[in-house]
Amino acid sequence: MAPPAFVPGAHPLSVAGSLRGCLSPVVSSRSRSSTFLGATVAAGDHAPSRAAFRMVAPPPPRRRDSNPQDKAAADGGRVGERERLEATLKVDVVPGGDSPPPEEEMSEYDPRRFNDANPPPPLSMKDAMDLWIENILVLYGDKKPRDTVPVAEGEVSDLVGGPFFLALHRCFKEYGPIYKLAFGPKVFIVVNDPVVCRHILRERSILYDKGVLSEILEPIMGKGLIPADYETWKTRRRAIVPGFHSAWLEFMTGMFGYCTAGLADKLDALIDASDADAPVVEMETEYSSLALDIIGKAIFNYDFKSTQTESPVIKAVYRTLREAEYRSTFLLPYWKFEPLNWIVPRQRQFRRDMKLINDTLRKLINEAQHGKQSTELDDLKRRDYENVSDPSMLRFLVDLRGESTTNKQLRDDLMTMLIAGHETTAAVLTWATYELVQQPDLYARVRAEVDAVMGDRQTPPTFDDVKALDLTRRVLAEALRLYPEPPLLIRRLLADDTLPGGEVGKPTSLKRGTDVFICVYSLHRSPSLWEEPDRFDPDRWLKPHSNAGVEGWAGYTPPSKGKGAGLYPNEVNADFAFMPFGGGSRKCVGDQFAMLESTVAFATLMRRFDFSLACAPEAVGIDTGATIHTKGGMPIQVRKRGDRADLSDASAKLSK
Ligand code: HEM
Repeated sequence: MAPPAFVPGAHPLSVAGSLRGCLSPVVSSRSRSSTFLGATVAAGDHAPSRAAFRMVAPPPPRRRDSNPQDKAAADGGRVGERERLEATLKVDVVPGGDSPPPEEEMSEYDPRRFNDANPPPPLSMKDAMDLWIENILVLYGDKKPRDTVPVAEGEVSDLVGGPFFLALHRCFKEYGPIYKLAFGPKVFIVVNDPVVCRHILRERSILYDKGVLSEILEPIMGKGLIPADYETWKTRRRAIVPGFHSAWLEFMTGMFGYCTAGLADKLDALIDASDADAPVVEMETEYSSLALDIIGKAIFNYDFKSTQTESPVIKAVYRTLREAEYRSTFLLPYWKFEPLNWIVPRQRQFRRDMKLINDTLRKLINEAQHGKQSTELDDLKRRDYENVSDPSMLRFLVDLRGESTTNKQLRDDLMTMLIAGHETTAAVLTWATYELVQQPDLYARVRAEVDAVMGDRQTPPTFDDVKALDLTRRVLAEALRLYPEPPLLIRRLLADDTLPGGEVGKPTSLKRGTDVFICVYSLHRSPSLWEEPDRFDPDRWLKPHSNAGVEGWAGYTPPSKGKGAGLYPNEVNADFAFMPFGGGSRKCVGDQFAMLESTVAFATLMRRFDFSLACAPEAVGIDTGATIHTKGGMPIQVRKRGDRADLSDASAKLSK
């Protein structure tokens, strides 16, 4: 096992939290003097080159669409799931598909040795020790560092006490798109460059695993897709991806509307029961309950009813999420020490919660297995979902012919999707609402669009409506740009590798065992990649842009202008400058699901209510957690909309 590393607050998908308690033992010895990794590295060697943003004609796209997965993403996911899946599982490490050089010309961990059939071996304790020794020799001895990457300078207190990704963003402003964080001999490479991200996530994803995150999540998710070892991941990803086929997504769109209508009815009732004209509702919590109801129905046909009640299962799910987050802030995986699980009160609570969740899932899995109808994949994709009693993902995974998955693996798959697909979507809705209500003109345009698309209909938005809700979708994409969920992705290098130069223009050589943070938050707010990066501007997605100063970055091309008319911008048409769902082989399996869900929910609520912030925008604050949270909730004044008057008003605004 690799030595325990600090992980600053982890979402199941990444790291996002504070450095609570875990840094001091390692860092105190370095205090203020922890500047550059090795005296031989001068700031000027790798001074952050903050190429100013400028508009130039986009260079011809490189290899774009050559990968079916990219093509699927560029087309808004409408290329066949099979193509997408195959691309997902194929990783080409040797550039251009050339054959690797002779054995004797390659070092033991030469990246060219590895491919999807022959992934690099997991790290041993020796690998980790070798890396630590090298770092110590560079830091305190006279060993020459293998790169010129600057080391973030400053006091640990700069990093502790607030959201970690915000601290990293401050470092990004000072040190540029690639830098190191050194905590004694423990070094993290932080990257915020689209070309480097593309390299890590897509071109060489086989060389990078999820590192310490897998260790933290394993007790909760078992061998679910996120923490799974490579072989399990490959098999399960192959089974799960087709589950998100278009007939199912289309049917789910109706379910999203149905669940949101439940929340809308609840808000109606609150308004009716309130003396105030517009009662204040904490919408972050409401969005979270809605997302839980939706994911429960979609994944295992279980109605949490969390928008209406608070059941013990719901409480257990929430506490488990918090526990994953809490554990991630500890240097030592103390929960692996079995006796503590019986002594420490929160560990005992965790055991009880896991038992309750597992019992519930076991019951659902047993029921699904009982009614198993072994079916070919193509027939499953043609299922008439309107007329099946259980349209869940669980049912699909059980019925899929040729799959002999154990109940334990099914439990791990379901638990992973429950956690990964819940708070992420709730956060998008929260931040989209927060930004929109602060821009009255934009808000009016969104309502006008929703009204024009939905007309007088009282039924929820359909799949076709979502396609027509162009501005609404751009608002959600823009919320994901400014508030990516999760804000950090974590990787650990399993071979030696050289990162491309990208914006700084110099390649970086990395040794096996290196921990890497991809700070999506900084990437999405980089002035080299975005005009006025901190401004919430959904119209930015309509214009192409590029910056020749970022070597190898193809720039952004709006999805509707490229091949196929994709539904939302993604990592392919932004060439990894925008990657809310990650990219490459570990890209989110629920991206289409999540965008459909949030569009339907958002449009439904915009259609029926007027929202306004019930406090100063600064009072909402940003906090760290499983995703990017508000500090203490998002109080919103909710009013019913006067449909008729609003409709004509809206049409006038839309035609402006
Ligand atoms: C707006 C909502 C969502 C966002 C922003 C989001 C974001 C992400 C990101 C960034 C990753 C990649 C993590 C990495 O590379 O380390 C990921 C992976 C994943 N997501 Fe999502 N996600 C969302 C919704 C969902 C939903 C609804 C589901 C399931 C129904 C889901 C299931 C997963 C799974 C299983 C993985 C792991 C994939 C793998 O490793 O093969 N996500 N998600």
